[in-house]
Amino acid sequence: MKNKILAPSILTADFSNLAQQIRCVELGGADWIHCDIMDGQFVPNITFGPIVLKAIRKSTKLPLDAHLMIKTPDNLLEEFINAGADYITIHQEEVVHLHRTLTRIKELGAKAGVAVNPATPVSSLKEVLPIVDMILVMSVNPGFGGQKFIEGSLNKIIELDKLRTDSNYKYLIQVDGGIDLNNVKTVLEAGCNSFVIGNSIFKNDNITASTVEFKNLLS
Ligand code: DX5
Ligand code: ZN
Repeated sequence: MKNKILAPSILTADFSNLAQQIRCVELGGADWIHCDIMDGQFVPNITFGPIVLKAIRKSTKLPLDAHLMIKTPDNLLEEFINAGADYITIHQEEVVHLHRTLTRIKELGAKAGVAVNPATPVSSLKEVLPIVDMILVMSVNPGFGGQKFIEGSLNKIIELDKLRTDSNYKYLIQVDGGIDLNNVKTVLEAGCNSFVIGNSIFKNDNITASTVEFKNLLS
């Protein structure tokens, strides 16, 4: 797959000025907006829910990539999709009937992604690889921005890329956590398609310029 997807994570954006911050990454060529949904249960942090996602929907035409780090995500799938999420990614560790949930997301009209924490092996996804639209490889333990990239994540991306080639699967591989200017190329070469980047974009004085910088490295 030629075109790489840059998905800035607004987790570390200035929430008092969210629409303007999103505009900055849009101007820099961002492809998606990554929305980290946290409930203080599945992860030790709380962010926002469908109401705020709906407000974000109004501020951009870019696809909204909702990463649900919440307990029982099945209860809120419709709400997030109705609020305007284009991609819904749920966690393998939380969902018991993974095939059912992924199918339901697709039936509701969104793209279905599944995320794996650093301690969760790729093999746990084997049976859903043919139906999933995206696999999110967590390269930090979920909950916070600005953490250090866990090196073992690279092998998972390589493994997922090989499985995709061998079986002609269609899923995108997304990386999330600790991506910076020093490691983004290595992750790209491992076969990753979609890059979630939080701190390395939003903690810069010039958000647009740093978005452009990543975009250039990914093309
Ligand atoms: C962590 C979130 C990430 C996070 C990435 O739980 O899923 O999306 O915002 O932020 P950085 O790029 O700062 O690691
Ligand atoms: Zn995320």
